[in-house]
Amino acid sequence: MSLKSKINTKFLPKHVAIIMDGNGRWAKKQGFKRVFGHKKGVEAVRQTLEAATELGIETLTLFAFSTENWNRPKFEIDTLMNLLVSSLKKEIKTFQKNNVKLQTIGNIEMLPKKAQRELKESIELTKNNTKIILNLALNYGAREEIINATKIISKKIVNNDLKIEEIDENIINSHLYTFNLPNVDFLIRTSGEKRISNFLLWQIAYAELYFTDVLWPDFNKEEFYEAILNYQSRERRFGKTSEQIENSNK
Ligand code: FPP
Repeated sequence: MSLKSKINTKFLPKHVAIIMDGNGRWAKKQGFKRVFGHKKGVEAVRQTLEAATELGIETLTLFAFSTENWNRPKFEIDTLMNLLVSSLKKEIKTFQKNNVKLQTIGNIEMLPKKAQRELKESIELTKNNTKIILNLALNYGAREEIINATKIISKKIVNNDLKIEEIDENIINSHLYTFNLPNVDFLIRTSGEKRISNFLLWQIAYAELYFTDVLWPDFNKEEFYEAILNYQSRERRFGKTSEQIENSNK
């Protein structure tokens, strides 16, 4: 029995987020420069997106570039930006064929103009697609996102467009970059590191966490299916007891 056929498609996480880690280590292990790992990582992105789309997952968020990644050598940053542009150019036809809607989270205005242009174009072209949202986190940091939301909310209060008493989870949600997305159900991190690294701090409050030793360039459809099966073996209680969950399923 294949891994894929063991998956219960009625019990899928709606929103899967992935910290794609280990590109550099993968390359070093093979005796290559770090950037080669990123190039190979693009194939893992393709496979994961395809697997998620086929299964019927509604949103896939990928941590492609963090606010901290600007501290990397210029050559590596340039390679990542160029890979983003070339991948979008190459994949746009597949996005259309597979009904993939592209969107981004993060402060996109700080990316190179070429990357911004390509992203805008791909987002516009795919805006009416409905099967899956591919959400790329680019120049993204969760604390920056929360600071940004706080500033917007504060301005609304100062301008009397919002009352302090009205601030609740929904108000916060609607001012985050992820305003149009459900909370994250399942967070995957590759490469054996067990950290969150400033990724979607608010949105993962009740997410199931999955850490695998596989380095991102080696991640593929089968690894994704294995992760989803692991998710399906868990009981999500949201603070309730097992008995309450069992009874509500009856
Ligand atoms: C982490 O590995 C990975 C990144 C910082 C970038 C992820 C980018 C890609 C997979 C390719 C481009 C993506 C798209 C969406 C086209 P690392 O370099 O931190 O690995 P290390 O911890 O082994 O050094």
